[in-house]
Amino acid sequence: MWRCAGIGLLSSVSIVGAQPYGEAQKGTRPYRDFERPEACRQCHVDAYSQWKGSMMGNAFTHHWDEIEYFGLAVEHAKRDPKFKDVVDGCNGCHAPLAFLAGDLPPQPPSENTRANESVSCDLCHTISGYDETALFNFSYHSDPGRLKYGNRGGDSSPHHDLMRTDHLSVARFCANCHNEKSPWDVYVKSTYNEWLAGPYSAEGVQCQQCHMPRAPGVRALTDTKRYDDVRQHTFQGAHAPSKTAGAIDVIVHADAEEYEIGDLAVFTVVLFNQKAGHKIPTGSVEDRLLHLHVEAIDASGRVYHLPVDRKGFEGEEYTIGSEAKAYQDFADMIHVPDGFDGLPRDGVPAGDRIFRMPYFTEKGIMTICQWNTASLGVDYRIGPRETKLETFTWIVPDEVEPGPVRVRAHLHYQLLVKPVADFLGVPEEESALRLIGEASTTVSIFD
Ligand code: HEC
Ligand code: HEC
Ligand code: HEC
Ligand code: HEC
Ligand code: HEC
Repeated sequence: MWRCAGIGLLSSVSIVGAQPYGEAQKGTRPYRDFERPEACRQCHVDAYSQWKGSMMGNAFTHHWDEIEYFGLAVEHAKRDPKFKDVVDGCNGCHAPLAFLAGDLPPQPPSENTRANESVSCDLCHTISGYDETALFNFSYHSDPGRLKYGNRGGDSSPHHDLMRTDHLSVARFCANCHNEKSPWDVYVKSTYNEWLAGPYSAEGVQCQQCHMPRAPGVRALTDTKRYDDVRQHTFQGAHAPSKTAGAIDVIVHADAEEYEIGDLAVFTVVLFNQKAGHKIPTGSVEDRLLHLHVEAIDASGRVYHLPVDRKGFEGEEYTIGSEAKAYQDFADMIHVPDGFDGLPRDGVPAGDRIFRMPYFTEKGIMTICQWNTASLGVDYRIGPRETKLETFTWIVPDEVEPGPVRVRAHLHYQLLVKPVADFLGVPEEESALRLIGEASTTVSIFD
């Protein structure tokens, strides 16, 4: 405990002033410096099970990560060595132990090396501070050892020393990995920045409040003390249907109750981000799609798909489903079929509104490869507590069956653009449409 005596009163950030952060730590720590998560499990069994089931416990082993890292990024770096450093850097966040050990690229998950531990207990709980000037790209300082940093300290543990710090309890801790810059100095992941610019940071609501909820219990099996507010290590995000369900409140209303054939009907969809502390989608925005599909269904059951009304902002074409193609940069990374001219950009019905931000290569090709991203397009996502209105104008067609017409709005979330997932052989679950909100209204049509 000698270390705590002198430094206990200082914030963790000031104690590491001269130590390396981020990139400078590559190859500085052998795997053996870190304890395995299974060692922590003996006493912290709930934290272990929660973490193990979360994406952070699978950040290196998860199928799509394996496909993108080994199948695209590592191949790209082989063909074009200028990408070697950025591709090594993937591991700074996804397999930090491998990055610190300099085991780059690591063996694939099937080899069961310590890279598979992903973002592990001992990685997070031995981070002693972070680079105050650069909160992106694994900007933490790793200081593994017997001392584990926590949020309240405590009496003692038979297995380790412990020390309370403030740095684990704030959003900036998460920014180390949830903000990312590409080699072109472009923020290709900016969940922390979005949070900082939004209402929750001003109210002091940290990431931990929504992603590590508190519940009564013990902190360790051997602990005799009970607490009202033990941090749960759930880390649920976009892979958890319960987290995305209802994240956006959806309402649809019409500009009249009754219409005649040939009338102009205007339906408005109101979309309110009521649940997330950042934009939706956030994080891997290059992969993600949120899209709004609106239909009118007449009394005979005939379905009319309504395209969204254009608003006329710059770059809007990327926010409306179309037959356009993109992702031609795959040809620089992997073997593609002869005559490959890209893949369908969206894979959603033409005319649907898409909430997204497109990423572009140096040549202006739209890409899902964030390491190959030189610029960003229009940011048409839904910010924290932001409300967007979308209108759908319908000239009531002759063939409509008079009577009630139901107008239905479906808001779908997709982790990965479907044509890309199919092309790369990514399991279905990653590109499946997930209904996260819906609403309907009924109007009457007369002859
Ligand atoms: C033999 C049991 C045991 C093992 C194994 C164990 N811990 Fe603990 N740990 C405890 C106990 C007991 C406490 C609570 C002490 C208290 O509240 O006084 C604790 C508390 C903690 C805390 C809270 C610290 C704070 O300041 O709030 C962290 C973090 C922690 N352990 C991390 C780990 C990690 C990481 C591992 C694996 C490398 C691990 N523990 C392995 C028993 C254990
Ligand atoms: C992504 C980083 C991260 C990982 C991985 C992680 N933790 Fe934590 N853990 C935290 C943070 C952040 C807190 C404190 C949150 C706060 O300020 O209340 C915490 C708190 C704790 C506490 C104290 C809880 C309390 O309320 O007193 C224990 C014990 C703990 N972690 C053990 C573990 C164990 C064991 C594992 C692996 C199974 C693990 N952690 C994995 C970030 C992490
Ligand atoms: C060492 C880097 C690192 C730190 C620190 C870190 N994360 Fe993560 N986190 C990741 C990586 C990498 C993933 C992606 C896992 C995947 O999908 O491959 C991830 C995934 C997540 C997800 C799940 C996303 C999904 O798609 O379901 C949530 C939620 C999350 N992190 C929250 C947090 C919070 C909250 C903190 C701070 C307490 C934090 N993370 C700190 C690296 C980190
Ligand atoms: C007010 C609650 C709240 C706060 C604060 C919050 N989040 Fe979230 N987060 C959510 C909800 C709800 C979702 C699911 C909807 C979505 O994917 O955006 C989510 C999703 C995520 C995802 C998954 C995104 C994806 O596409 O895979 C990550 C990663 C994440 N949050 C990290 C963070 C980090 C880091 C912070 C702090 C900088 C933070 N969150 C703050 C509620 C919150
Ligand atoms: C600065 C930290 C950081 C770096 C560097 C980084 N990632 Fe990630 N990555 C994350 C986080 C955090 C997430 C989760 C974001 C979210 O949930 O939307 C993520 C998500 C992903 C996903 C999506 C996982 C899913 O299931 O949807 C893939 C694939 C991925 N990263 C691959 C890579 C590759 C390949 C590289 C290197 C070229 C890389 N990452 C570099 C932090 C990082």
